[in-house]
Amino acid sequence: MTGLDHAVLEAYLGRTRWFGGKGRPFRVTDLRVLAEMPAAEHGPSVTVFLATVDYADEEGGRERYQVPLAGYGETEERIGHAYVGTAEIDGRARHLYDAVHDHDAMGLWLGGFVAAEQGGVAEIGGLRFHRVPGDQPLDPGLRPSPMTGEQSNSSVRFDDTAIMKVFRKVSTGVNPDIEIHEELTRGGSEHIAPLYGWVEADVDGEVLQLAMLQEFLRTATDGFDLAMGSVRTLLADPDPDIVGSGGDFAGEAARLGEALAGVHAMLRARFPAERRGEQETAELARAMTERLDRALRTVPELEPHAARLRAAYDAVAALGGLDVQRIHGDLHLGQTLRTSHGWRIVDFEGEPGRPFDERALPDSPWRDVAGMLRSFDYAPGVVEMAGAGADLEEDTLRADRAQEWSERARTHFVDAYVAALSAVDAAAPADADVEDSVARERRVLLDAYVADKAVYEVVYEKRNRPAWTAIPLKAVAAIGAD
Ligand SMILES: Nc1ncnc2c1ncn2[C@@H]1O[C@H](COP(=O)(O)OP(=O)(O)O)[C@@H](O)[C@H]1O
Ligand SMILES: [Mg+2]
Repeated sequence: MTGLDHAVLEAYLGRTRWFGGKGRPFRVTDLRVLAEMPAAEHGPSVTVFLATVDYADEEGGRERYQVPLAGYGETEERIGHAYVGTAEIDGRARHLYDAVHDHDAMGLWLGGFVAAEQGGVAEIGGLRFHRVPGDQPLDPGLRPSPMTGEQSNSSVRFDDTAIMKVFRKVSTGVNPDIEIHEELTRGGSEHIAPLYGWVEADVDGEVLQLAMLQEFLRTATDGFDLAMGSVRTLLADPDPDIVGSGGDFAGEAARLGEALAGVHAMLRARFPAERRGEQETAELARAMTERLDRALRTVPELEPHAARLRAAYDAVAALGGLDVQRIHGDLHLGQTLRTSHGWRIVDFEGEPGRPFDERALPDSPWRDVAGMLRSFDYAPGVVEMAGAGADLEEDTLRADRAQEWSERARTHFVDAYVAALSAVDAAAPADADVEDSVARERRVLLDAYVADKAVYEVVYEKRNRPAWTAIPLKAVAAIGAD
């Protein structure tokens, strides 16, 4: 399939929720075909495009996006919401739709995984389907349906059995989401959705990883939604005692802390880990301080807290060393799912915006812990803001209770995380002095990472959602204040 006008695709990209360049001037400067799937009888023609996007603003830059399209001779009302445009192909007008929304098209991907068989590979139309050894047999009759929700990629579920994430922004090399899921699946982690397989294609002699298939967690509730529900329950409860109330998240937070400790322990065992020295530790503190300096230029409200933040970063430099390992890199409650079998962590793609090879570098696990702590602050912050009214006394009471919810969740999360890690590290020396210095190092790193994240959030909110700036600003005010 050729003949797809760049302008048609540009207009479509601007309408999708997954395109990262919305609001910026951009051009599709190259469009090539990665794969052409063999059409089923009465089915659409399906082509996987690779679109190169160049930005024309000061920041500039180039990104590549995967765009699978299904082409039909007639319009298809049922997927009208996924309409991309028309193109003349082989002398015939075709109506093009985003293939992720088309069950006939997605059935071809399922067919690829089925053909690969457990532990094998199948090549179809230019796509290579890989299956992990020992996964579940896949029924070719499973019905695909697209997932809805705010996502930076596009996910399709196959009944209650499997979920496929189609990566939108793609780069050559190993996708961390696939890499980490594969290792944790091999390790038998109970805290993830096991990987079933993935899809690749070659481009200019390099490999592009395009999609990933994993177990669909039937009973999953999004961690952030669950947390917000818990806060709402608390605020609606006339009983002032949070302990034992339906709106207490301490138990859930503790179990999530244990789950993260389990994931971190396995990542440390299965990927490179090391102790960083004085210079690199000072470098980390300097990077945090520089981020603060930049933030101060955008958000002068940070000024009253600057001295305490600098002190928190100086304390990192004074540590003279820190342990690093493979981490999640973009952890928050929205990357967790609560199932009837406990907490699972998803989306190991890491920090968006950084190249894959950088994301694979060892980093401090306290960055992940800090990400979760910030989430335990956002959930009540968002609920509280939505409910704020004209009654000042009432609002103060709500704010106090929301604060109590957050403090309890954070404390129980960290305590359970540390306890579970110590249980794994039973071989570590039980020397009291060593324990003291380890505990101090943890506190210093955690404070600094929380501060660094909150500063980032203040800038983000100020630019994108000014009314929300108060949430991270409150957290910044609490750093080193005791
Ligand atoms: N294995 C799964 N089972 C059920 N739902 C899932 C699973 N993995 C992800 N989800 C749902 O899809 C959402 C997006 O998944 P995620 O991997 O975070 O994608 P993205 O990279 O687009 O952020 C999750 O928040 C969750 O609601
Ligand atoms: Mg995600």
